[in-house]
Formats: sequence, C-alpha cells, structure tokens
Amino acid sequence: MENKRITIPEIAAHKGRAEPLVCLTAYTTPMARILDPHVDLLLVGDSLGMVLYGMENTLGVDLEMMINHGKAVMRGVEKSCVIVDMPFGSYEESPEHAYRNAMRVMKETGCDGIKLEGGTDMAETIKYLTARNIPVMGHIGLQPQSVLKDGGYKVKGRTNHEISSLLDDARAVEESGAFAVVIEGTVEDVAAEITRSTNIPTIGIGASPDCDGQILVTEDMIGLLEGPSAKFVKEYTNVKDDIAAAVSGYAGEVRSRKFPSTEQTYTRPKAVDVKKAS
Ligand code: KIV
Repeated sequence: MENKRITIPEIAAHKGRAEPLVCLTAYTTPMARILDPHVDLLLVGDSLGMVLYGMENTLGVDLEMMINHGKAVMRGVEKSCVIVDMPFGSYEESPEHAYRNAMRVMKETGCDGIKLEGGTDMAETIKYLTARNIPVMGHIGLQPQSVLKDGGYKVKGRTNHEISSLLDDARAVEESGAFAVVIEGTVEDVAAEITRSTNIPTIGIGASPDCDGQILVTEDMIGLLEGPSAKFVKEYTNVKDDIAAAVSGYAGEVRSRKFPSTEQTYTRPKAVDVKKAS
C-alpha cells in the first residue's frame, strides 16, 4: 500500500518555511485518530509515564511501554509523521545499545523515526543511528530525563555558559545527522538564535515563536491534567470539566433510575412471552 504519511524529508524540508510545523503528543489509537487530520507530526512522548501512568517523572518509562503505545498510535494515523521517544536507559550506554533498541522501536511499531534527549553528549550515538538509516529527532534545552541530575525542571539559556552549551548542542545534533530538533524550556531569544543558526527544523516547547514548529503535550492543551501546568502551556479547552459534568449527569441518572431508558434497552417480539419461556 502507498505510504500517504508525511515523510521525514518532508518534515526536514520545513526548515525556514513561513508556516510552522504543527506537532502534538499522542499515546493511544483514539487520540491519534482525532489529532491526525490537524497535525504534521505526532510524538509518542515518554511524557506518557506521567500523563497516562501517574508517574512522578519520565524515568520509570521502559521500552515495552513505548513500543506498545507506538503501535497503538500507528493504528490511528493516516497522514501524520510518527516519532517515538527512546525512554531513559534505552540509549545512553553505547551507540550499539541505542541501535538495538531503536531498531526494535522502528520494526515493531512501524513509526517514522525516534527521538532522544541530549546534545554534544549524544552526538556519537545520533551519528551511529543515522548512518544506519534510523531517522533521529534531537531534544535539547530542558531535558526531562535529566530532572534528577538538574535538581528539577530548569529553564535553560539564562547564563552565558548555558547559551554557549545550547548552541554547541544544536550544532552537534545537526552535524550528527538528526532531521529535526526539539528545543524545550529555553529562553526565547536563545531558541530563536538556535533556529537561525541551524539548518534543521527546530520544534519549540517553551521556546520561541520563531521555531520552525511547535509541540505541546495534548493532555496539557486540552485541559485534562490535574494541578498547575508549565508557563509554556496554553489550554485551548478544558476537557476535565466536560468529563466531570458528564459523569455527574450519569451518576444522577443512574441513582434516580432515569438511565437506562427505553432508548438504551432491548425489546423482543410481542409474541414471545418471557413467562412461558422460563
Ligand atoms: O515526552 C514528550 O512528550 C516530549 C515533548 C514534551 C517534546 O518529549
């Protein structure tokens, strides 16, 4: 069957275009089906650990979870490019280890590429993967898998040292062959400068409107999560309130025996008599 999905070269060709790439996270088939017509790229992010499984951070997410959710998203997609995150511990040990795990993700899910966190420290691994036909999306700036090392989720690019490290990271990711790079939680003008100085699309999350694309965690932007969200999140609706109202309506109707009504129950031909049959 012809592949009608947006390809990696098509994503890469978005560099510098006036219209930015529209990207969101997805973890399940029904959500992928809803998002697919509206986006260019869906990321099966390891944020699923927190969003779906109630974990405190992404460090407990494993390869099996990513593969299972990657498969689920692929079942719901017709046109979007699908990228699956490499979880903590699945790629850092060596380029060969990263290759074996990334190859499993690609083969078992049928996705278009993988994403991994890191800049200069991951350059050798990105080079190794891309030389072996695994499309890699980089992820620099705030890297959620470094939350313990960093002592929290810290915005990057506020000191000269951080700015020069970010520019080095972006260059290293690009030179290693990544087709795009996510810039997360980074001071706006630094993210804009990275976007100007690299030849691959930058996808911003808490970065800059000048990035070549934007991404958000879907459950954040539809207001499905509890608690305060990051400064960079914009809630376009509040599904949590809609669900609460629907569930409260259901509970009231069950308790008052209004639900189920004749509309939701089955009938039989009049000639069949329940009493005679029993
Ligand atoms: O895991 C994730 O959802 C991500 C995005 C926030 C970029 O990495």
